[in-house]
Amino acid sequence: MAIDVLISKESIENRIIDIAKEIDKDYEGKDLVVVCVLNGAFVFCSDLIRKMQKHVYVDFMKASSYGESTVSSGNLRIDLDLKVDIEGKHVLLIEDIVDTGLTLTNIIERLSKRNPASLKLASLLFKKARNKYPVPIDYLGFDIEDLFVIGYGLDFAGKYRELPYIGVYSED
Ligand code: IMP
Ligand code: MG
Repeated sequence: MAIDVLISKESIENRIIDIAKEIDKDYEGKDLVVVCVLNGAFVFCSDLIRKMQKHVYVDFMKASSYGESTVSSGNLRIDLDLKVDIEGKHVLLIEDIVDTGLTLTNIIERLSKRNPASLKLASLLFKKARNKYPVPIDYLGFDIEDLFVIGYGLDFAGKYRELPYIGVYSED
């Protein structure tokens, strides 16, 4: 088993500082509800909100998608739903990675029905080559190749989330 560094701790930190500045500017004078999509986004979310100047509400959501259809949100199982009522609020979803886009498409569809004032997405990573369900990523950390990555919140079978960098996992 080997792990090669794909995105260093320093690169991640620098990118997050830029994204945090953009968010501060875009939401100036507005209340913002940050929704951390569990489990993978917990590291990115905690670093991002600490680089922001503004005060935010933070809530958590956990969902698992199953099936390949995106026609309705019926194929999304909500394991943990928001406590906060987002009607009329500005909402920013925080995700670790958009791969096929199935999970986020479903989450966005579901949260849109609750009539937030706005709903945007920040994702640390985007695997363009694998994207099947187009998801508008308003704040993107890095585009990556079609590789299985771990670290900085991302796991392989529940492990390696604690790594401070994004690495590529390979057997042998
Ligand atoms: P999607 O619904 O296909 O976009 O899948 C997104 C979810 O799959 C992410 O939130 C991750 O939990 C997981 N995932 C996708 N690619 C990777 C990867 O390279 N490493 C670890 N988890 C991944
Ligand atoms: Mg995830």
